[in-house]
Amino acid sequence: MDKTVILTGLRANNDLHIGNYFGAMLPIIKMAKNHDEYQINLFVPDLHSFTTPIDHGSLYEQTLANLRLFVAAGLPLDKANVYIYRQSFIPAHSELTWILDCFTGIGEMNRMTQFKDKQVKLTTSVDTRVSMGLLNYPVLMAADILLYSAAYIPVGDDQKQHLEFTRDIAMRMNAKFGDLFVVPKSAEEQNKFFSLDQGLRIRSLVEPEKKMSKSEDNDKSVIFLNDQPDIASRKIMSATTDSLNQINYNPTKQPGVSNLLQLLALLTAQPQNEINANWQGKTSYGELKQAVAEATNKFLVDFQAKLSSVNHQEVISRLEANETAMNDQANQTLQKVQRAVGLRQ
Ligand code: TYM
Repeated sequence: MDKTVILTGLRANNDLHIGNYFGAMLPIIKMAKNHDEYQINLFVPDLHSFTTPIDHGSLYEQTLANLRLFVAAGLPLDKANVYIYRQSFIPAHSELTWILDCFTGIGEMNRMTQFKDKQVKLTTSVDTRVSMGLLNYPVLMAADILLYSAAYIPVGDDQKQHLEFTRDIAMRMNAKFGDLFVVPKSAEEQNKFFSLDQGLRIRSLVEPEKKMSKSEDNDKSVIFLNDQPDIASRKIMSATTDSLNQINYNPTKQPGVSNLLQLLALLTAQPQNEINANWQGKTSYGELKQAVAEATNKFLVDFQAKLSSVNHQEVISRLEANETAMNDQANQTLQKVQRAVGLRQ
């Protein structure tokens, strides 16, 4: 691990949406395209995928489908510093999780916002079991990061607390056992590195107070990367706004309108402040929606054309080679930890 590592993972419990695309995929892919001086790890945390109930019959294929999405989004598979892999194909992730578990407080995990939100959702659904896996989710995520000594982790705003925990457990282990782990950069340093003011949060089109989420029951709230472009445009046209009748970028007071402005900036790759200045004070929400709907349509048509030309076989052979290389890297860290905690000499 000579190069500084940039790493992120996207679960495969469902199709990916534009929040996943802009929050995590695009930032790492931009780095992969332009910066050979970093090691780029883009993986599918398939073990994280069933911390809440899923259709297990489709998990394996969904994982491969998501890897193809990475390539369609521009991940340069031909570069030697770029690695794709499946978490469950690298057993060190599970092994390190167990060790970290024994240094993690139950209270710490109970306090995680995402755990609390998902817990409420589960207890109000048919399947009422809140699994140990859900509670343990952040520890597995910390293992995903620490095994490769990753410094930069592009994630959406909802993962900030999990990154903070990763830093905490790394520092805790280092204090007890000496220099075991590279501590990932702080949220501020990460934002600076990825040129962001703050972590990205694309909002639900139906309930803009909430984030856009793939586990959302209402399909109208999410634009999936494989949505038919005209259906996606219709979702934008029916997005919830407000009754103020004036366009302003103010996520607190006007979350729906601000979300549309944010989507327009991202989909057209224009700076947010320019988009905001163009629309500031205008009164027609219909026109704004029309512009976002057109940009969405164009984005999806382009993306899906690229997806249809991805060579599946090439992805598979690259995946297998990368998994061998990443097993070697991950095992080096794991063995160091095993020695430190007294399991090996
Ligand atoms: P997942 O699959 O739930 O989300 C994948 C990424 O998409 C981001 N994201 C969003 N960004 C902006 N707006 C949204 N509405 C939105 N919805 C989702 C998430 O923040 C995430 O970056 N726990 C991770 C998966 C993971 C991981 C890791 C990430 C497992 N191990 C190690 C980094 C490093 C997650 O949320 O996956």
